[in-house]
Amino acid sequence: MTAVTLTKTALSTVKADAVLIGVAQGPTGPVLAPGAADLDKAFKKRLLDALTTLGATGKANETVKLATLGATAAPQLMAVGLGPAPAKDGRYDSEVLRRAAGSAMRALAGTKRVATSLALANDGAADDVRSVVEGVQLGSYVFTRYRAESPKTVDSVAVVVDNPRDKAVKAAFEQAQVVATSVALARDLVNTAPADLGPADLAQAAVDACRPLGCEVEVLDEKALKKGGYGGILGIGQGSIRPPRLARITYSGRKGAPTVHLVGKGITFDSGGLALKPAQSMEWMKSDMGGAAAVIATLRAVAELKPSVNVVGWVPTAENMPSGTAIRPSDVLTMRGGKTVEVMNPDAEGRIVMADAIVAAGETDPDYIVDIATLTGAQLVALGSHVYAVMSNDDEFRTTLVAAADAAGEQSWPMPLPPELRKSLDSEIADISNVGDRNGGMLTAGIFLQEFVPEGVKWAHLDIAGPAFNLGQPHGYTPKGGTGVAVRTLVQWLTGLA
Ligand code: BES
Ligand code: MN
Ligand code: ZN
Repeated sequence: MTAVTLTKTALSTVKADAVLIGVAQGPTGPVLAPGAADLDKAFKKRLLDALTTLGATGKANETVKLATLGATAAPQLMAVGLGPAPAKDGRYDSEVLRRAAGSAMRALAGTKRVATSLALANDGAADDVRSVVEGVQLGSYVFTRYRAESPKTVDSVAVVVDNPRDKAVKAAFEQAQVVATSVALARDLVNTAPADLGPADLAQAAVDACRPLGCEVEVLDEKALKKGGYGGILGIGQGSIRPPRLARITYSGRKGAPTVHLVGKGITFDSGGLALKPAQSMEWMKSDMGGAAAVIATLRAVAELKPSVNVVGWVPTAENMPSGTAIRPSDVLTMRGGKTVEVMNPDAEGRIVMADAIVAAGETDPDYIVDIATLTGAQLVALGSHVYAVMSNDDEFRTTLVAAADAAGEQSWPMPLPPELRKSLDSEIADISNVGDRNGGMLTAGIFLQEFVPEGVKWAHLDIAGPAFNLGQPHGYTPKGGTGVAVRTLVQWLTGLA
């Protein structure tokens, strides 16, 4: 991780290899965002001239670099675009600052020490510190495990604020660091090659991440799963030589506070099983444990932030493989709790492992169950790769989660669970089939999960299939590969619930 600190040293005199400021699109051309006044003075009030000469327009995430030639202590200056300048008394959106900080980190990769005034774009309040620190950390993330030589990053960033000792500023800084560390963990888990992260390894990752922070972590192996009647997890896992697991992570915040159960899909590799996927679709199926990664990372963050809520994380994990022992289309599984599922398509495996864990989560009468899963290709068709879907049995709860995502800088959208779709999941011989109507396939999968949620529990289902993994170019603070999506939403909601 990049070493981030708070400082109140002026940018013109700060010891750094580069100083970073914001430039916005004003009504008549580019303008310097607040926080660059002393630098501008060092440039004899011609800083904006210099930047526009080099092509700066203020467009969001655009970066322009110039040599300071002794005008400031730092030899380089970078301006990052913030998009349209807010109207008088308006504010720069926190996500604008987060993305700008992330874009700048990628453009500055290889620079050792950076100092930035981005957090002063509004008034240097706690909220801006949080956005900038998150953007810096998330934007300078690199996955190094398999490389002899680590990709270049920025070593350290000093974030200029008016008062680094301010309590709210310090708290926002700490929270941003915890959140960024947790998102990086989720990204690392997703990026890890599936050979190195089987079900037992993923369960162990939950132990390693959460036990040292005081959580109780229990892992059920295949024998315990059999004893517990987890037919779904076992059935999906039976094609792999690496047996499935179910990890449970418990964070106890306060007796009497609301209890939230989080369930994350942990398919360490989804080949499709006997319904084998085409090679191209399989290329990114190491990311099919993105929901589990988000749950582990959220529990890790919560254990460090210690809000007054109780959180239980469930990680049902299996490897979906074709083999002589794999589950066949038309096999029937008996799930935890006794419902039977006819597995018409072994590639619709996620809903099956999730259902077993949702049943287990429901057994202790929780206040909320939230499940997070890379569940359907239909999510990508509906919402693409930047926006995840939120479904719920409670409209108000769904609205709350979408609002938490928004506040955390993640894009989500509410989706319905039309009861009419349930009929398409009828099985000829069992209680339910694992596939139904392909049209609205994301919703059908949600309806399937809903069957396993106990009456009276507020439940939401996040389908993160697209946003969990960035197949495209890096953008803002989002790198290629694992994104760690949903961690920030969940931490935001849980800390708000406390
Ligand atoms: N893991 C996939 C869903 C997925 C697709 C995630 C693309 C990320 C990117 C899931 O297990 C799956 O294969 N779903 C099938 C369900 C179908 C067979 C009913 C799908 O969406 O095609
Ligand atoms: Mn599948
Ligand atoms: Zn899957």
